[in-house]
Amino acid sequence: MSEIKRIKKLDDNVINKIAAGEIIQRPANAIKELLENSLDANSTQIIISVKQGGLGVIQIQDNGSGICKEDFPILCEKFTTSKLQEFQDLLTISTFGFRGEALASVTHVAHVQITSKTIDSPCAYKAEFSNSKLLEPPKPCAGNTGTIVRVEDLFYNIPIRKASLKSAREEYSKIIEVVSNYAILNAHKCSITLKKIDDNATSSPDVRIVAETSIEDCVVELFGGELSKQLLTIDLKNDKLDFFLSGRISKPNYNNRKFRFILFINQRLVHCDLLKKSIENVYGNLLPKHAYPFAFLHLQLPSKNIDVNVHPTKFEVHFLHQELIVASIQSFIEKSISSSSESRNFSTQSFLNRSTNSLNNSVSISTRPSEKIRVDPKLQKIHSFLTKSTATNCNRSLSVLKERNLCDDPTLKMENTSIISIGKPKETIKFPQFVKCKTPDKPLPMSESASFMVSHSTPDPVSKRHKRIFELTTLDNLRKSIEEITNICDWKNFVYVGMIDHDRILVQRDKDLLLLNTQVVNYNLFYQLCLYHFGNFGEIDLIDQNASEDDGNRTLLKDLFVYGLKGTDQLYEGVNADEMITLLISHSDLLLDYFSIKIDVEAKTLLTIPLVLDKFIPDLRRLPKFIVNLCTNINYSDEALCIHGICREIAEFYAFGIGSSSSLFADKTEFDTVFENTIPPMYRSFLHIPSSFEHDGTLVKLTSLPDLYSVFERC
Ligand SMILES: Nc1ncnc2c1ncn2[C@@H]1O[C@H](COP(=O)(O)OP(=O)(O)OP(=O)(O)O)[C@@H](O)[C@H]1O
Ligand SMILES: [Mg+2]
Repeated sequence: MSEIKRIKKLDDNVINKIAAGEIIQRPANAIKELLENSLDANSTQIIISVKQGGLGVIQIQDNGSGICKEDFPILCEKFTTSKLQEFQDLLTISTFGFRGEALASVTHVAHVQITSKTIDSPCAYKAEFSNSKLLEPPKPCAGNTGTIVRVEDLFYNIPIRKASLKSAREEYSKIIEVVSNYAILNAHKCSITLKKIDDNATSSPDVRIVAETSIEDCVVELFGGELSKQLLTIDLKNDKLDFFLSGRISKPNYNNRKFRFILFINQRLVHCDLLKKSIENVYGNLLPKHAYPFAFLHLQLPSKNIDVNVHPTKFEVHFLHQELIVASIQSFIEKSISSSSESRNFSTQSFLNRSTNSLNNSVSISTRPSEKIRVDPKLQKIHSFLTKSTATNCNRSLSVLKERNLCDDPTLKMENTSIISIGKPKETIKFPQFVKCKTPDKPLPMSESASFMVSHSTPDPVSKRHKRIFELTTLDNLRKSIEEITNICDWKNFVYVGMIDHDRILVQRDKDLLLLNTQVVNYNLFYQLCLYHFGNFGEIDLIDQNASEDDGNRTLLKDLFVYGLKGTDQLYEGVNADEMITLLISHSDLLLDYFSIKIDVEAKTLLTIPLVLDKFIPDLRRLPKFIVNLCTNINYSDEALCIHGICREIAEFYAFGIGSSSSLFADKTEFDTVFENTIPPMYRSFLHIPSSFEHDGTLVKLTSLPDLYSVFERC
């Protein structure tokens, strides 16, 4: 029998060392904390000196407010701060510091000496600290107003951390990065200098920004003149989402070996992978392979909308409406680049699906015990506990659809009942038999979890087309009208729970369990996808190019039209099918250019339809109806009505056959996997939710956690 181990409280020293190791992960973190302290003290001059990449010595000298001699005894104790009193103060905090933990942490992993003088003190005081404690009473000494913090032998007592760090050179380059970033944002009020402590005292500073330098001059100083010539200034104010963004981004003619992405949120240097990725995507189509842009962004939000206390290094923050704000910034940056004249004359590179490798690697993941229990709905969805089809299965399910001869399926045989007064009666309709997808050069929106699905159609790597941006007022207006009716509820907490059937799914929002009518939501989703990816669709190829025309794999538009009228003969009595098809063909250029609907004008056959969402193929049995609607429901003479009408028809085509399209798959569970991996994730990452959903029965609250608790209590 194994020995039962008793629980004991850890020694304070061990606790402090563990906590300190989380906050001070490497020399650059220590410098960030000390630099923030100096800025919080309203310094106008900061000099940082570093030896051995920060592992030997870090010294930071400022001319800020200084520290009172009386505060020295508790200066480096944990949770002692002059910046926060009540927890509520966090909502309005404007200083970098608030926890009173940084200095304490440094003293647990290094030897620290602090010298400081306030303006009304006759002299400075110096003292040494270890493990949060003042070692001896502070000694008077000469000094200017301000503070000098000297940190020696960082990680002397955590050899494993020291050993795992990169070389002193690499650590120093990380320090340069952090100091440069702070220097740009604070250049208007503070001089910041970074230099190596050199035994020969010959080296010049690596960062030297003098107060009141403009952002452009900072960029010249820090990154060289070439970049400064290629900078675009951006300013975006959004009253609805309540944010202001200012910054500088590189024009598409600039490229660098590494993506230099500097993000400040309310003056704090933070990471935001979602925003970084979305900007990377914008440039991904414009820059050559292995070339990256520069972006320096400062996002300002009301402090009540941002939670700064989420990570020990303070490198992360959470903010409200994150996905909507990121989407708005992304589209603004797209527009800004497209309207800069240089953006039109550079060589472009087709999108390379970077997720492909990870897709292939995603097979055979073993389950850890912690993954067997659902502890946090944000991390695990209910369906992750069900047996998943592997990526190979998904791939197979798509190829099933691709390779199966749809006419062989008895469910698809259409009998000769539709002898309508127009056109030639048909025995059966020849449906397009070959479905091959080609994604556009710009990636189609892909759901978060779609990365678990194998790409069945790799983008054409030789194509040079980049995402096309259309400056059509009508398109802008249609998009605006969507944004205006959007409900800015907090969809960050939206969690997919599970599927009842393809028309109804369960979702959780905050404490509520909701039933979602997916037909309506999907219609909105596909309509919005059409508007936002106007002119940039992939193609679903309906014709096997290798097959000869006699193979019977081509379907005349007229046949599709005639068959589509089945059951609607009352309404369309007297309609001339030939005239309708001629009308459609007369708009073939428009249909191809904007909507990837390719028509063989000579043969009067349909070659391609748009691929609106990567990996998702609509039910092709709805194609005849789609063609009828394209012929009869669209006002081609009015730009706005035409765009709206075609987007609406595509959305209907995609959204309303989902339930029945499962019969196209050999195995229904495979279709379910395709559905679940593709559609619900888009609700959260892409969809603008109209506020009407809350009242019109599209979203129905079934129960909530508090209600369930009261049921349990009664039981
Ligand atoms: N350079 C400095 N100039 C003036 N006061 C300082 C300086 N550095 C530290 N202090 C004082 O020491 C206190 C403790 O600093 P410390 O960095 O540990 O905590 P904090 O900045 O309050 O919070 P956080 O842990 O979030 O950084 C500060 O609140 C501040 O009063
Ligand atoms: Mg601090």
